[in-house]
Amino acid sequence: MITITGIIVLALIAYFAKEFITGGMSISNPLENSTTDSAPIVEGRFTPLSLAKFNGTDDPKILIAVKGKVYDVSNGASFYGPGGPYENFAGRDASRGLAKNSFELDCLTPTDQPIDQLKNLTADEIESLDGWEQHFEGKYPLVGTLHENGDSI
Ligand code: HEM
Ligand SMILES: *[C@@H]1O[C@H](CO)[C@@H](O)[C@H](O)[C@H]1NC(C)=O
Ligand SMILES: *[C@@H]1O[C@H](CO)[C@@H](O)[C@H](O)[C@H]1NC(C)=O
Ligand SMILES: *[C@@H]1O[C@H](CO)[C@@H](O)[C@H](O)[C@H]1NC(C)=O
Repeated sequence: MITITGIIVLALIAYFAKEFITGGMSISNPLENSTTDSAPIVEGRFTPLSLAKFNGTDDPKILIAVKGKVYDVSNGASFYGPGGPYENFAGRDASRGLAKNSFELDCLTPTDQPIDQLKNLTADEIESLDGWEQHFEGKYPLVGTLHENGDSI
């Protein structure tokens, strides 16, 4: 005869069995890439020229550099993808634009030029940039670092 207690016990067994199986599966595939993983994975070194490929057109992956760090902002494609309000930042070093709260092209260094050293920002602009850095750090995976064109990478 099936009792309430029996049903509860069966439900608990089913629940723990499921936990065990799904937990076991993730342990058995440690090398599988996971987009839901919160731990940042540093994939590599980029230059302004190599970063520019990741502007969301040819490759669906969208990358943005902020203060020398490269973030995968593909999950924010509605912001940075083609036609998005901040599409100018896609595949680019967005640091000066974020500091000055401008997504205009004149805040972006041409991809064949040396990396913007951000020498002449005001204290307010540096504070703004640091705030954006926190935003990106908290929201998107860090996937690499930005280096000068021509550096061996
Ligand atoms: C016309 C004025 C603007 C409006 C109405 C606007 C509106 C918004 C809205 C609604 C969001 C989403 C916030 C959220 O999801 O919590 C956002 C995010 C953002 N905005 Fe603006 N914005 C404006 C100007 C700017 C400017 C000038 C910049 C240049 C730096 C900028 C950069 C960003 C960035 C980087 C994000 C974060 C997107 C992300 O989370 O990946 N916005 N904005
Ligand atoms: C994981 O990501 C790396 C770098 O993007 C890629 O080279 C590799 O093929 C991926 N592995 C799997 C199993 O998807
Ligand atoms: C995006 O990158 C591709 C090359 O991968 C290039 O042809 C295209 O012009 C770029 N788009 C913008 C808006 O810069
Ligand atoms: C600050 O430096 C940038 C890049 O070196 C330059 O384009 C810009 O005109 C400078 N701005 C001021 C106010 O000096």
